[in-house]
Amino acid sequence: MEGDPYSESGEYLDLLSRGAWRALRVPVGEALRQAVPVAGPVVDVGAGTGLGVVVAAEAVAGAGIVAVEPSPVLRAVLLARVAGVEELRRRVTVQAADVASMRLPAEVGGVMAISMIGHLSPARRAAFFADARKRLVPGAPLIVNLQPPAEVTTIPQTEFASVAVGDRTYVGSGAARPAGEDSVTWTMTYRVLTVHGVVEREVVVDYQWYVLSRQQLLDELAGAGFTASVGEMDVVTATPHD
Ligand SMILES: C[S@@+](CC[C@H](N)C(=O)[O-])C[C@H]1O[C@@H](n2cnc3c(N)ncnc32)[C@H](O)[C@@H]1O
Repeated sequence: MEGDPYSESGEYLDLLSRGAWRALRVPVGEALRQAVPVAGPVVDVGAGTGLGVVVAAEAVAGAGIVAVEPSPVLRAVLLARVAGVEELRRRVTVQAADVASMRLPAEVGGVMAISMIGHLSPARRAAFFADARKRLVPGAPLIVNLQPPAEVTTIPQTEFASVAVGDRTYVGSGAARPAGEDSVTWTMTYRVLTVHGVVEREVVVDYQWYVLSRQQLLDELAGAGFTASVGEMDVVTATPHD
């Protein structure tokens, strides 16, 4: 991975992702019920702070989980979340790696990559799908989700989360602009507001995001040897076909 897009904003990611995970929990949990834990671990690629790891641990009883996370700041939160619960500490292995450098067993019981696929270039995405196809045992799912935009376009500044903690309110917003034939640049703004609405801190970060339409994703998954369907919250479940 080139650079860490979360080095400055990582402080806010867990807090501001909780709302999204309240909505993702059910569709991702349902998709994970197809996992085959006797064959190998469930792998969470780009596990972030571990909100999805907790969902996986609940959905797939007894499964070993490999949580792959390249960002040191996010990995610190992930490790703290895992360390704080005895059962997670036994079941979850944290890998400091990205999708290109992760080390996985020959057979895995499921792979998830939530809210991260746009970080991968088309070539990297293709390599990831091919690698997952090779390792997933029959019936085991690859779970990804679609996120806007589906095409290269402009998205005006939009607030996506606002959460109060103590007497501060943490607000995340973002705007996107075209950055090439298959990507946009997201400019994300994170603000900490006092009780009087004064901006106490502000972090503004840019990162590249590769766009992907629903049809393009389904076509790529079919080409990689998967049968895929799109469910609630645009959660895509793909299983290997013969
Ligand atoms: C928006 S966060 C989502 C985190 C987590 N999956 C969740 O849903 O809460 C995107 C994640 O993708 C990770 N990521 C970015 N590029 C990556 C890469 N090349 N390989 C693996 N993970 C990557 C980031 O470090 C971050 O954890």
